[in-house]
Parts: sequence; C-alpha cells; structure tokens
Amino acid sequence: MCGIVGYIGPNDSKEVLLNGLEKLEYRGYDSAGIALLNQDGLNLFKVKGRIAALREKVDEEVTATMGIGHTRWATHGEPSARNAHPHQSASRRFTLVHNGVIENYHDLKREYLQDVNFQSETDTEVIVQLLEKIYEEKQDTLESFRSVMGLLNGSYAIAMIDMEDEDTLYVAKNKSPLLVGVGEDFNVVASDAMATLKVTDQYLEIHDKEIVIVKRDSVTIQSLDGTNQERAPYTAQIDASDIEKGTYAHFMLKEIDEQPIVMRKIIKEYQDEHGDLIINESIRAAMKSCDRIYIIAAGTSYHAGLVGKNLIEKLAHIPVEVHVSSEFSYNMPLLSENPLFIFISQSGETADSRTVLVKIKEMGYPALTITNVPGSTLSREADYTLHLHAGPEIAVASTKAYTAQIAVLAILAADSAQARGYDLEFDLFQELGIVANAMDVLTAQKEELEQLTRDYLETTRNAFFIGRSMDYYVSLEGALKLKEISYIQAEGFAGGELKHGTIALIEKGTPVIGLATQANVNYSIRGNIQEVVARGANALIISMKGLEQDDDAFVIPAVHELFTSLVAVIPLQIIAYYAALHRGADVDKPRNLAKSVTVE
Ligand code: F6R
Repeated sequence: MCGIVGYIGPNDSKEVLLNGLEKLEYRGYDSAGIALLNQDGLNLFKVKGRIAALREKVDEEVTATMGIGHTRWATHGEPSARNAHPHQSASRRFTLVHNGVIENYHDLKREYLQDVNFQSETDTEVIVQLLEKIYEEKQDTLESFRSVMGLLNGSYAIAMIDMEDEDTLYVAKNKSPLLVGVGEDFNVVASDAMATLKVTDQYLEIHDKEIVIVKRDSVTIQSLDGTNQERAPYTAQIDASDIEKGTYAHFMLKEIDEQPIVMRKIIKEYQDEHGDLIINESIRAAMKSCDRIYIIAAGTSYHAGLVGKNLIEKLAHIPVEVHVSSEFSYNMPLLSENPLFIFISQSGETADSRTVLVKIKEMGYPALTITNVPGSTLSREADYTLHLHAGPEIAVASTKAYTAQIAVLAILAADSAQARGYDLEFDLFQELGIVANAMDVLTAQKEELEQLTRDYLETTRNAFFIGRSMDYYVSLEGALKLKEISYIQAEGFAGGELKHGTIALIEKGTPVIGLATQANVNYSIRGNIQEVVARGANALIISMKGLEQDDDAFVIPAVHELFTSLVAVIPLQIIAYYAALHRGADVDKPRNLAKSVTVE
C-alpha cells in the first residue's frame, strides 16, 4: 500500500506534494512525510498520523523546487515518525520514498550492510543504505541506483533525491503502481494520477523494472540495462470534481448516492444505438470457448463475484467457481481443461489477486479483469478488461464499485448467454434501469434508515446478517460494510446455517438483520428469523415489495429477482454509514485499512 508523490519544476513543490498526499491518503494513513531540497540543503518533515498533521508540521517558510512525499500503511515497523518515509542514507546524501515490500531485505542487510546503524525498522531503509554503499564504489548516482534496483526482490515504486543534484528526481518501479505526470516546465511522479490531477492530466505509464530520470524539462525512461524506452503520454480520464467531496460530509455517502448514476452510465456504455449489448468480440469468444470460469477476488469484490457466479450460471450456463485470491494462490484447486479466469478488482492493484494472475498466466490460461481502473496492473496484465465506469471510489469502504461490478457481471452473463444460444427472458437494460430507479428511491430514504440504525445498532457490540440464496451473498457484504467502518463485530450467515452453531451467540437484544428479497426462500428465511427471535434477537427485516409482511422494518422497491443484490445492499450500506457516524468513527478512513491493498 502507501502512496508516493514527487515534484520537480520552477515553483515551490510543497503544496503539490501535500495536496497529492491528501489525494493518496486512501492508500494508507498511519504516518506521512515529505522531503524538500533547496540550495540550503534537504528539509525533512515526518509525522505519525494523517496528512493534516504533516501539514501542521511542515515549515511554511521552507520552499523548494524539488520534493518527494509519502503516506504510509505500515508493513515493516509500527506506525511512527521514525518509520515514516522519506528515509535517508547514513550520510544523508540520498533520500527516498517507497511503496511496496522488499522481500529480500534481510538478506541484503546481512550481505552488504552489517556495519550500518539503521534508523528505522523498515524494509525501505535497506534500499537507501544500499544505494549509499554502492555509490561509495561506483561514484555515479544513476549507475548506483540502477545496481540497487537489480538487487531488490519484491515490489517497489520509488522516488529518490540525491542531495548533490538539484536537477534530477530518480524513479523506479516494479509491481507497485507508479506514473510520471508531464507538465510544461515541470514534471511530477505519483502512485495514482488522482494525486496530481490538479497540475497535469498528461501521464506516462511506467512499466515494471524500469528506471526514470525525471528533470524539470525532460523524462527519460530506461530499462534496467540502461536502454532508453520511448513512450507517449496519455490523457488521464478523470474529472477533477470526481475526487472532491463537494457538499457531502463523507466520500462514502457521496459514493452511495452516486450508485443510480453509475448504473445508468453502465447501461449507456454497454449498449449500442440498437439497444444491443457491446462486449468486445475476443471476450465473447473467451466466454464461449471456456468450460469453467474461476472468479478471483478479495473482500467486497469477492462478494460481488459470488453474485456474478449466480448470474453467469443461471444465464449463460457456464459452471463458475469463486475464490478468495489470497487462498487460491497457495492452494489451487484442480482446474478444468479449458478455464477462463475473471479477476474482479475495484483498484486493479490488489496484490493477492495479482499473484494469482501471474501464476495462471505462467500456466498459459486466459484472464479477464473487471476493474474501475483500466490502466491498473491487473488490467494491463490480463488479456482482456471490462471497465466499471464507476468513477473514482475514494472512501475505503467500497459501495458503488460493488454494485457496478455486479451490473457488469450481469451484462457479461447476458452477452455470453446470447453467444451460447440461450434466450434471455427479460430485457436486461430495462431491468437495470428499474434497478437504477429503485436505487434513487433508496438513497432518498436516509432518514428512515438512520432511525433504524439508532433503533437496532446504537449500543450493540455485535450484529448478524442473514439471508438465503442471493440474499446470503448480500448478507456477507452488509456485515463487511458494518464491521469495517463502525467496528461492530458483524457476521453474515446463510439463514439455514445459523442453527448449526452460530445460533448459540444469539441472546436477548442481539441485532439480526434478515433479508427477504427472494420469492423461493421467503418462507424459509422468515422461519430462520423466527428461530432467532424466539431466542431474544432484535430482528430487523428488510424485504422486497411483493414479498413483505406486516412487521418488516424496511421494504425495498421490487426489481427482477436476479438483480435484488443491487438494491438490497443499499440500505445496508446506509445503515453501516450511520452506525459508524454515530460512534464517531472515521467513516472514510477506518482504522488499520487502506483502499488499495498492494501487499500480500
Ligand atoms: C471493503 C473493501 C475491500 C476491497 C478489497 C479488494 O469495503 O473495499 O474489501 O473490496 O480490498 O479490493 P479491490 O476490489 O480493489 O481488489
């Protein structure tokens, strides 16, 4: 995780760096720092905590036309100012920021750096100390930087300053995201284009194992052997207003509210002027020729994958397995003869998923990535990509990406059904339009949902979500949303499974949120709810119009039963939001988490 940013140009770099780090805070927010180089030397500011704390610490008087910055999600070493980046070599000549994990840092320390007195517990410090060691021999910064990169195993996006050279920013990348932004008379470096969108929308993609020599008026990309690489910049397709909260108190609430818009955008993007589905021919062919699909994802994206399995199996009649990426990498099931892998990832950077992608590509299998970030690692390294069109998702808790993932999976399933000769018995885009309208209704019911949150979750330590069939998958997502932002211990269960153990946890007042949106299990889920009520549970039933009963607490508008997950999740997202808000939790940046999980 972590985010890095760098600037070299004619103006003071401070504001570009601090503003960039604020935009990258979603990548980690337990400590932060910047380094500013000017004629008087290098100024280092580091804090434990958020960028807001760093802003307070930075001396307004210090100006510098070159600088680097970092926001951290701790992996090696506790969150502290000491472990915060930038890190420096023993003589302080070299200073760098790093996103990633250096897997062989112990070996490097033992082999080259026995005599060095380390200032932090991080793997990163090894890089900068090693750089100084090698420089002692080579007396050439670029050569030394290149040699160090050749010795590192693991992932890195690095921006480095040599105190003796005010004209060059040294950059390197392997497996961690990194872009160079090109401006007029200045250049920037960032983990994500969002960070520097205020100053440029022109970006150069940097590939793994490349080094970049960034000067005020030039960018030179080289492979590790020193060969120059030509690359044209592309225009980042992000609207700067997409990454601002506007009048909302939190990004999460804004993103919840954006779901109907996203749904309509997806309908538009995947439909031609005749109302036919637009899916790339090669994706259609891959879906047609495979004998089994393996969906690989983590967290919320995994939950979307479970719904996707149902949609693909029901509509296109292709068997689908859904796997948590971190488990799949090291415990691979027996694969079918002709598998197709589908990676679902909002960020497109999740390391657990990437490990699987690298493995299955080595095995020669085709991969499709469904992501919100088309230029991301998982997108670039897969054979095909489907875009979510959800716009930047900034809140750590995923909301609009989840519903976008399900909608795109529905479109893929419907397209494959047609390609395989199965008739759809409904108009897909019309049904998704009904979903978008239902989302409008639900996002306007916040007051009611806030009251339900007060009634059921205000003082509780734990909560259960139950559902059957598609509602079971939504229960898992509802529980994840609630626990990750409010810290209420919450679990989702299949309604029928509760009595096989978990019902032992139900006592007087335990909140149980029961979902009832599926006609074929309406009777049985209500039976399961009665079982917990009989043991004292405080049951909040969310049902769908047409299936509701008198004492249901909340009724969602009716939608096609294949697409209930898209709407049933919305009250759960809103309830989670208010539960977190009422407890004073940091809704957009929950503790211990980061938006893009780029470590395994
Ligand atoms: C939860 C959440 C996470 C992510 C997971 C995968 O709200 O956001 O569980 O879904 O870390 O991330 P992506 O989708 O970027 O691969």
